[in-house]
Amino acid sequence: MTEEQLNNLSVKDEDDDVVDPWTVTGKSETGIDYDKLIKRFGSQKIDQELINRFEKVTGKKAHPFLRRGIFFSHRDLHNILNLAEQGKKFYLYTGRGPSSESMHIGHMIPFMFTKWLQDAFNVPLIIQLTDDEKALWRDIKIEEARKMAYNNAKDIIAVGFDVKNTFIFNDLDFIGQCPAFYQNMLRIQKCVTYNQVKGIFGFGDSDVIGKITFPSIEAAPAFSTSFPFIFDNKVLPCLIPCAIDQDPYFRMTRDVAARLKLPKPALLHAAFLPALQGAQHKMSASDPNASIFLNDTAKQIKNKINKYAFSGGQATVEEHREKGGNTEVDISYKYLTFFLDDDERLAQIKKDYESGQLLTGELKKIAIDTITPIITEYQARRAAVTDDVMREFFKIRPIQV
Ligand code: TRP
Repeated sequence: MTEEQLNNLSVKDEDDDVVDPWTVTGKSETGIDYDKLIKRFGSQKIDQELINRFEKVTGKKAHPFLRRGIFFSHRDLHNILNLAEQGKKFYLYTGRGPSSESMHIGHMIPFMFTKWLQDAFNVPLIIQLTDDEKALWRDIKIEEARKMAYNNAKDIIAVGFDVKNTFIFNDLDFIGQCPAFYQNMLRIQKCVTYNQVKGIFGFGDSDVIGKITFPSIEAAPAFSTSFPFIFDNKVLPCLIPCAIDQDPYFRMTRDVAARLKLPKPALLHAAFLPALQGAQHKMSASDPNASIFLNDTAKQIKNKINKYAFSGGQATVEEHREKGGNTEVDISYKYLTFFLDDDERLAQIKKDYESGQLLTGELKKIAIDTITPIITEYQARRAAVTDDVMREFFKIRPIQV
């Protein structure tokens, strides 16, 4: 990509949704226009044909997140499926910017899917915790950021990752211990000008210089040579499942890869889990009433959904029976598209709600009954993740490739 093309990627109209690593807001009550985003970002839509191919290659029914368009966009996924078909290896890379607040179910979407991908392909996984990023962007101490990384690591491990083929690291501890990682960071830094990061990320003259170099730190794990203790200096292609807001980092990484003569990472992009109040906003950790947290009790989940989940139903029962509800804007229904596995049941619920047969209160109850056991089971796994368990994932060591 030329400098000009890179700059143009961030050009958008006034009435476009805002989606970048720091802000996500939709202009319409139906939420972000993801088709428009695909056009703007220049990625590919995940269509039925690709899903069919996915099923053929993995021999597994596609995950509901694929079937329901929650992972909706990709870059170069065909390359990865080609490799898998030929029995060749690749690896998965994803990450999280740790935060002090407890994680909410929206944060879990990419990790749940990553876990499924890891099982489907039987490949190694690398998880980066960008405590340095949080220390740079927020008003917190370095020590605090590190602590948050360890806490968040436990939350992530509890999704069900296996220590035999998963390596987790936090930047503040790891980078100083791994010269190969730092060397790749520098190779990346040599390829990207200030003008380019300005265009891609909107950095300005008063941003601290740490922010300006940070993209090289998120890019480095996309190259297998950053982890010689795992990949033995072999070049392995990388697939990155992430929320679509992280795409700017990896557009940059793919551009750099071409110049370093390394494979461009492939990407799988997720949509956002909407906030309880409506699909214009994603779930946010800073608003307790907008989110369902991983440590909420069953009672809290029930109360939040009943009280706050935006309803697409009508004002009175009579009106609802007559006109039916709107599943396009109804948050309880949206959550079911994320968390209810059974396609037939979901289709029936949609039909019944839209025809007015199913009332808002009844729909909310289905959402509560679907989400609560997912969280309770998660909490049981989380309770088993001790400091010792966590430390094993962070050990600099070979893992199963
Ligand atoms: N910047 C991401 C965040 O704030 C964290 C992150 C680092 C990440 N590497 C990643 C996310 C790779 C997805 C894929 O959450």
